[in-house]
Amino acid sequence: AFVVTDNCIRCKYTDCVEVCPVDCFYEGPNFLVIHPDECIDCALCEPECPAGAIYSEDELPDEMQPFVELNAQLAEVWPNITEQKEPLAEAAQWDGVANKLQYLQH
Ligand code: SF4
Ligand code: F3S
Repeated sequence: AFVVTDNCIRCKYTDCVEVCPVDCFYEGPNFLVIHPDECIDCALCEPECPAGAIYSEDELPDEMQPFVELNAQLAEVWPNITEQKEPLAEAAQWDGVANKLQYLQH
């Protein structure tokens, strides 16, 4: 499956949801996740993310490994999102800031 990682937090551009053929993105207050059992590994979303936050699980950097479980867990509780919306207000300021996991809202 593909995995949404750290740099989505506090940005949430949502370009990714627009291209997903199986609508497997789920939305929290300041982060999106991919449901690993629904993702068909089409790779369409990866280049669409302006924040470069989406990786194939096979190519996930070591420091992003905790996001595998986080995507799986949160996809079970957050609502589905299928249409693009406005990014978060301070997306541009937060894009590229390291270690944003501490700001994740549930
Ligand atoms: Fe959706 Fe394809 Fe991205 Fe998986 S890889 S989340 S199926 S767009
Ligand atoms: Fe997040 Fe990138 Fe989608 S910032 S909402 S993974 S387009």
